[in-house]
Amino acid sequence: MSNTRDNSCVFNQNEGINGDKLIYPAATRNKDPILQVLKRFVFCDSDNVDDESPLFLEVASGSGQHLAHFAPHFPGVKFQPSEADNSLFGSLSIYAKSCPTKNILQPILLDIRNKLSCYGFEENSVDYMYNANMIHISPYDCTIGLFENAGIYLKSEALMITYGPYSKDGVITPESNIQFDASLRSRNPLWGIRDINDLVKLAEDNNLSLVDTIEMPANNKTLIWKKN
Ligand SMILES: C[S@@+](CC[C@H](N)C(=O)[O-])C[C@H]1O[C@@H](n2cnc3c(N)ncnc32)[C@H](O)[C@@H]1O
Repeated sequence: MSNTRDNSCVFNQNEGINGDKLIYPAATRNKDPILQVLKRFVFCDSDNVDDESPLFLEVASGSGQHLAHFAPHFPGVKFQPSEADNSLFGSLSIYAKSCPTKNILQPILLDIRNKLSCYGFEENSVDYMYNANMIHISPYDCTIGLFENAGIYLKSEALMITYGPYSKDGVITPESNIQFDASLRSRNPLWGIRDINDLVKLAEDNNLSLVDTIEMPANNKTLIWKKN
């Protein structure tokens, strides 16, 4: 596997631990480039959280580092971390509690293959959905669940932001991503880099459109999906 690949979550290893906060080296590297993209797409009128604050739901929060890095830059946005793996809750909870702007909620146990109504969400109620590095490191069922839920639970014209490596027109580039894809599939045949064309079709089936594609470091992309 290429050492340029942003793959340190693949093994769910915690190469560094700061107190009970898990530190994924990949998240440490990519959190700021992703923040710079979010600054172009996430908006809030107020600098305080209240009942009317925009709700930003992260699916598959992992260590919790991403929201911990983002939240202080959007003090009027309410960030909701979530995870299917409850062994990550200690870290997620500590990152939430130690956020200086106090706008990260406690994590919820959430398997994105289930409808968000199972977790108390109402249809057309979520302002932003965000998912990093799950689409290629989970069975495709999870991607289907992500887009189905976005189509139902996002407000009209609200955004879903996904980050990771993707292929386009059936072609994976560069060579390091081809090797990464092979490595993912050898670990689990249901994992693998997904093609943007397939995601666009899935999005269309769920009342969403791809509105922007941003090239990111380490051969990743951020995709911006908008509910119609
Ligand atoms: C590679 S990690 C990415 C973590 C974090 N988003 C990041 O970028 O550092 C993939 C995460 O997807 C989560 N995941 C896998 N299947 C899921 C599902 N069905 N619903 C929600 N999360 C899931 C795993 O528990 C894991 O934490």
